[in-house]
Amino acid sequence: KPIVLSGCQPSGQLTIGNYMGALKQWVSMQSEYDCLYMLVDLHAITVRQDPQALRNACLDGLALYIACGIDPTQSTIFMQSHVPEHAQLAWVLNCYTQMGELNRMTQFKDKSARNVTNINAGLFTYPTLMAADILLYQAQQVPVGDDQKQHLELSRDVANRFNNQYGDTFTIPEPYIPEFGARIMSLQDPAKKMSKSDDNVNNFIGLLEEPKKIAKKIKRAVTDSDEQARIYFDPKEKAGVSNLLTLLSGATGETIESLVPKYEDKMYGHLKADVADAVVALIEPIQTRFEALRNDRAELDRIMREGSEKASARAAQTLARVYEAVGFIPRP
Ligand code: AQP
Repeated sequence: KPIVLSGCQPSGQLTIGNYMGALKQWVSMQSEYDCLYMLVDLHAITVRQDPQALRNACLDGLALYIACGIDPTQSTIFMQSHVPEHAQLAWVLNCYTQMGELNRMTQFKDKSARNVTNINAGLFTYPTLMAADILLYQAQQVPVGDDQKQHLELSRDVANRFNNQYGDTFTIPEPYIPEFGARIMSLQDPAKKMSKSDDNVNNFIGLLEEPKKIAKKIKRAVTDSDEQARIYFDPKEKAGVSNLLTLLSGATGETIESLVPKYEDKMYGHLKADVADAVVALIEPIQTRFEALRNDRAELDRIMREGSEKASARAAQTLARVYEAVGFIPRP
């Protein structure tokens, strides 16, 4: 089976955007691919995190992965920091990546412009840690959104460079474009994507939020001031309405094309009520499964232990090849 690797940052509560853009795809890939799914806690600390909040977000994220349908007996689920090979390979790759290449990363430019008080070196070298994540497992496919395409390209460049110098060491990863790759936008500002770490909590829908609160946020979502208040799909001209249609499609499984005609003579209020119902119906059973698992710390520990052992055994093989290639003496 082709190897697939992906992860979410425990930098807040996972959102419906993470679900529709990532988790849902991950679940459906499990039978066809050899999947590794992590919580990238090492990446999360490139932004300042409260330690207790980070611990909770990691455990919540793990329980949510499983509640959403990721099966720990089928896929390998782990915390990035439990597999030290990630940090170890990232160091080596840092030494094979040029400052100029990292300087061109638009995500670094965006993130450093937004948070001028903490432009740390980890934020700058985030892409080499991501390259390590991928290359350690010889992943062939990496599901990535638009915002990560540039980072994946860098991973490919670094891997090719290393292979050319030392012989075949890394598999060159390809981007995996999921069939249904919904991009969910912010509820109050539909020009930007929904983000779990948004300062305005009305911009996102957390997977663990109370259903009543979720419905309220959807009903308050920004639409537009189109006087005819027509409902159709056009992410440029009708960003808010299109985002609601995307959410409805993602939650019900119906295509946008089949949904639009149903709203021909309806008002925005109707659409919002339907979106709220559909999203709540999607999330409620996830929350029920989450609760049971989140309260069973022994079971979560067991899953983390098994996942990290499986991941580490694989990662160690690649790291050993890399250490040998660069000339380190194996520890006697
Ligand atoms: N709004 C979104 N729509 C669709 N997919 C999304 N993803 C994130 N937001 C959306 C996808 O979820 C996966 C995990 O993302 P991440 O946690 O690694 O980081 P992110 O993309 O930076 O997500 P956030 O929520 O915006 O986090 P913060 O606020 O901490 O930066 C990825 O596959 C991503 O594409």
